[in-house]
Amino acid sequence: MKAYALRVNGREKPLELDDDHLRFAWRLSPGAAGATVAAHQVELWSETAEGAQGHLIWNSGEIPSDEVAVDYAGPTLRARSAYRWAVTIVDTEGITTAETSRFETGLRGGWSAAWIGRGVGPWLDSTGEAADPRVGTAIERSWQTMYAKPPLQLRREFQLNERPNRARLYVSAHGIYRAYLNGTRAGVDELTPGWTRYESRLEYQAYDVTESLQEGDNVLAADVADGWWAGNIGYNTRRHADQYGDRTEFIAELHLDFADGTHQVVTTDDRWVEKPGAIIMADLLMGEYHDAALATDGWLLPTFDASGWRPVEVGTGSTETLIGQRAEPVRVVAEVLPMSIEWLPSGAAIVDFGQNLTGRVRLSLTGLERGDIVELRHGEVLEDGRLYTDNLRSAEARDVVVANGSDGQVFEPLFTFHGFRYLEVQGWRGRPGSLDVTAIVLSSDINPTGDFRTSSALVNKLYRNIVWSQRGNFVAVPMDCPQRDERLGWTADTQVFAPTAAWNSDVEAFLSRWLLDVNDSQAPSGNVPDVAPVPPLSTNFETGSPGWGDAAVIVPWTLYRAYGDRAFLERQFPAMKAWVDYIAAVNPTTIWTNSLGNNHGDWLSVDAHTPKLVVSGAYRIRSTDLLARAAQALGKVDEAAYYASEAARLRELFQSEFIDEEGRVLGETQTGYLFVLAWDLAPDAQRSQIAGHLVADIINRGKRLTTGFLGVSLLCATLTRIGRADLAYDILFQEQFPSWGYSIRHGATTIWERWDGYTEHAGFQSKEMNSFNHYSLGSVGEWLFSGVAGISQADDSIGFRRLRIEPHVTSRFSVVEASFESFRGKITVSWSEEGDGYLVSVGVPPGTSAEVILPGQTHEITGGQHSFRFAADALPAQHGPGSLVARG
Ligand code: BGC
Repeated sequence: MKAYALRVNGREKPLELDDDHLRFAWRLSPGAAGATVAAHQVELWSETAEGAQGHLIWNSGEIPSDEVAVDYAGPTLRARSAYRWAVTIVDTEGITTAETSRFETGLRGGWSAAWIGRGVGPWLDSTGEAADPRVGTAIERSWQTMYAKPPLQLRREFQLNERPNRARLYVSAHGIYRAYLNGTRAGVDELTPGWTRYESRLEYQAYDVTESLQEGDNVLAADVADGWWAGNIGYNTRRHADQYGDRTEFIAELHLDFADGTHQVVTTDDRWVEKPGAIIMADLLMGEYHDAALATDGWLLPTFDASGWRPVEVGTGSTETLIGQRAEPVRVVAEVLPMSIEWLPSGAAIVDFGQNLTGRVRLSLTGLERGDIVELRHGEVLEDGRLYTDNLRSAEARDVVVANGSDGQVFEPLFTFHGFRYLEVQGWRGRPGSLDVTAIVLSSDINPTGDFRTSSALVNKLYRNIVWSQRGNFVAVPMDCPQRDERLGWTADTQVFAPTAAWNSDVEAFLSRWLLDVNDSQAPSGNVPDVAPVPPLSTNFETGSPGWGDAAVIVPWTLYRAYGDRAFLERQFPAMKAWVDYIAAVNPTTIWTNSLGNNHGDWLSVDAHTPKLVVSGAYRIRSTDLLARAAQALGKVDEAAYYASEAARLRELFQSEFIDEEGRVLGETQTGYLFVLAWDLAPDAQRSQIAGHLVADIINRGKRLTTGFLGVSLLCATLTRIGRADLAYDILFQEQFPSWGYSIRHGATTIWERWDGYTEHAGFQSKEMNSFNHYSLGSVGEWLFSGVAGISQADDSIGFRRLRIEPHVTSRFSVVEASFESFRGKITVSWSEEGDGYLVSVGVPPGTSAEVILPGQTHEITGGQHSFRFAADALPAQHGPGSLVARG
């Protein structure tokens, strides 16, 4: 038995850990059959400058349990220090194994560097005359109207008497940066430092740059663009640039440790110089404009003559909000080659990458003449063979490059990203056959944990579409969409999708960091905005919307259940409570009718209108319930009792206001019924009637859904829970409008924002709001794991300690295979046809127990691999409307 995937605060080997609270965690791989963990122990040592194990700092002692995480309880760690840690596992056979990992602390607030930005004096040419390298072309002026601005090129030379043993670069920006040492990039991260609520926290990154330094002359340099800080963000752009400030700035500290124990620091200060380069304009939403002829060759190297560069201006900004990054940064996670290239009569090329994705392209400029202008426009769909960009609203999603005529040149924009499947190339004057272009996929680089495959091409495609939408929208923050002028951290979208996200990847660090943005954006009243971070110049997000603000309760609860971190729940509890108390304060007598400034309802439902008060009432009860459970988990007995009784009182109110004697929920929509059934809002005696109404509505509509963002997240799981998995499958396999299958039939490679994003009868939906990459309606991913494959936690389990394995086997699949790297280790469930029955295989990590529920049989298992068989005639028959109503 071995520990693997060693993490500290949800991350592997961070170099800038600034948090005070540390939690060591690992997963367990199986050992000898039947063996489990008898004890575990965590030890922490300092690491010497040579990378060897130093002195012992903390020893947890041998803990006689099979838990897979330990909270650190040793002395406060020093800034900028390296540590090693080991977890030792003793199994019940007496076999001991140990695994080690490492991490480093960051500057922990001890910044001495200054912010630096654009200088004021002239740049000089080789004769010493003032010279503006800008060309001031018409294209440049048109980019100015988009509020795109030129990035900075910054450099500073310094001398070293010898090479250091260890060098770390700590770096951030008011904007987004790329840093270089002697021409080598520091790290491989993209769009750093990412986006957080900058008013509260601005993250910095640390890089090991030891190998890039040399004795003698060295140069530290950076490109810095506007990014989220000073560029266009949110919607109504062209007015919304410069949200956090109009000055793009950079900050860095290079810490060098030498063999003789001495230490040297190179920081950003007034010794830096700047001059613009080949990137004329760069903006996240608008794109990037390069003139290759303006490239300052060699500027990253110490041999470069920077005499014409002008001194930077040193800023006065504070360094107090700087904090080591808490989650994996954005990186290039894949490259995609074109599936086809079509040439239009106009001479433009349409490149199809076959996949809607988030990122940029890399284009070879070979074969172009000096001065040739190539323009790249990005879009998600085509209309009549041409690029359709109306749905991007004011996002230009356009990159422009002016070639310099030298072969071997490559263009790749660095400070923008687009959401696209298609690329239109205009102005390509090279041979058509030489158009060489690759899509570069960007995403927060979160470790994948889930895999799901079946014998159905349609369902596999749906699952891949969900994964691609998560990848494309988890870019620094959980965004709604990657293509149009919006790209905001909408709270409901994250709330409904978080359970799916937590199957697909290890989102512990990523979403728990985002929750800090939510906490910090919460009003003193407890009101939670619709998006986090809130772009500072926006005023319309402070609405307190049901299903949106509830993210402040639901997402922490989702993460607590998946990763079992009590300290995290403790951290979130005040914000959870403040939100629930806020709703109560503004609705002392009613269920939730006040403060609904922006009740979005069951957003983007089709042909059904769930009354907004049903939505708010249901969510209020849901959040109050979860708050009571959180209080109980934290041992807050009085609060647990209070919120449980509040929830009971609210249920009665809800029932008297919204559920009639025949079990009809006001509005009679699928979503209304789903709320009531999923969250137990009705008395037990009425459940079967209510389930009957839900089932009847679905069947009367030809087994089709009407649910929007909120309802859809409960749809298949609730049908399964009431004993109608057969109907959930009908909806899953549905290919008529509206359904996931319909979007796939019409070419979807990601989840669409709306069921009717494109329909045969009406074409594209309104260009005002029609994204083809929005994960909210993909929240069904959760049920693929928990319903189809049947992996879920027992009701009172956290951190996947106790499982309930209940695959919903159906003749619609001959094979289903799911695997999941849970908090404790790998869980696998597969089922397949075998002879005239089914074979079900289940694997669970050591020390994890599970109840396996199969047609006509249940089993109790613990860690290891298990197989079961049952005959096909044991499968449940198809049911009549609402016939089988079980409570689970
Ligand atoms: C966003 C959604 C969001 C909704 C709420 C849209 O513009 O894209 O994801 O939840 O607004 O109004």
